[in-house]
Amino acid sequence: MRWWHGRLAASLAVLLAAALALGSPAPLRFAQDGRFKLALFADLHYGESAWTDWGPAQDDGSGRVMAAVLDAEKPDLVVYLGDLVTANNLPIPNATLYWDRVLSPTRRRGIPWATIFGNHDDMSFEWPPEWFSPAGIPPVHCPPSSTPASRCSFRGTPRMELITAEINRDSAGLSHSSVGPKELWPGVSNYVLQVLSREKVQDPALIMYFLDSGGGSYPEVISGAQVRWFQSQSQFLNPDGRIPELIFWHIPSTAYAKVAPKPKSKIRRPCVGSLNLEDVAPQEAEWGMMDALAKRPSVKAIFVGHNHGLDWCCPYDKLWLCYARHTGYGGYGDWPRGARIVEMSENPFSVKSWIRMENGSTHSHIVLA
Ligand SMILES: *[C@@H]1O[C@H](CO)[C@@H](O)[C@H](O)[C@H]1NC(C)=O
Ligand SMILES: *[C@@H]1O[C@H](CO)[C@@H](O)[C@H](O)[C@H]1NC(C)=O
Repeated sequence: MRWWHGRLAASLAVLLAAALALGSPAPLRFAQDGRFKLALFADLHYGESAWTDWGPAQDDGSGRVMAAVLDAEKPDLVVYLGDLVTANNLPIPNATLYWDRVLSPTRRRGIPWATIFGNHDDMSFEWPPEWFSPAGIPPVHCPPSSTPASRCSFRGTPRMELITAEINRDSAGLSHSSVGPKELWPGVSNYVLQVLSREKVQDPALIMYFLDSGGGSYPEVISGAQVRWFQSQSQFLNPDGRIPELIFWHIPSTAYAKVAPKPKSKIRRPCVGSLNLEDVAPQEAEWGMMDALAKRPSVKAIFVGHNHGLDWCCPYDKLWLCYARHTGYGGYGDWPRGARIVEMSENPFSVKSWIRMENGSTHSHIVLA
């Protein structure tokens, strides 16, 4: 009798899972070889100065970087770590067009992805002073493609519109991005992804938390409400801390400034990296997120973008604070482009990371867990 009940419950669970799977992405899972690999694409900054030759050319360059990394690494998931577009440079009503272009190298290869917001994604347009000619009338440089119905606009595309368009257009079921809980607005990209075990098919073997670190239309902070949300999610999904956890947001927390190697100095162990060419530009305040994370031994590392001239990982308590690597030709800085790769093994659990450059070389290998 108990056996029969179990069978019935199992078949109902399968039916329910199948129903939920329609129109939503396939679950993430460790591969046959027991590994799961992420590529982090940080700070692509698409759409800069579309009225020039160099703006569109630099987006093509960023597309080539992503293609090179994807073909060399064949990741299981791409994490777009914020600043996909430079909205303050986009005099158009709808930045979703550029957002979509940023995703296309990954989508074309059938690779799933997840996005979070940076401080530039929903900014409103900033008029270049040089447009204000001696005649005193700014020429309006709408992109050539704009139709009369979508004249120039200078307000920026809100986070909700960007994410909703991404999800609605995802006919292939590759986007794992989510609109976070309403209580956390104006922060939007707050969500959790679980990677299932290769061995125990129903069980998660890795939990990834994505947080909106603000900027653009509101201050650069992780709120107390986000801290409480993280605590309740992690308590619910992983009460005994048995499952390893990774964290992703865009703007480094103030803790990054505390552990950073002295700016412009050589990066020494235990820190590992190749770029240390500017000061950490941290969030405006710390409202408890770092304490909440440092209390959980299951949290192995945090990954951020934002500082294009930094690409190190340094320890903080028992976890690692890591920068990604500037991937885009857009945004400030001319350092060679690349992407941080993060590879997990399920059993025994380990996290390895390195940086893959546009020209195919790799460096800054490190074991994070
Ligand atoms: C922007 O584009 C998306 C997707 O095509 C659409 O859903 C949305 O309504 C557009 N927003 C504006 C303001 O045109
Ligand atoms: C690739 O680029 C890096 C700079 O990122 C450079 O140090 C290295 O020599 C280049 N390797 C090749 C094979 O071109």
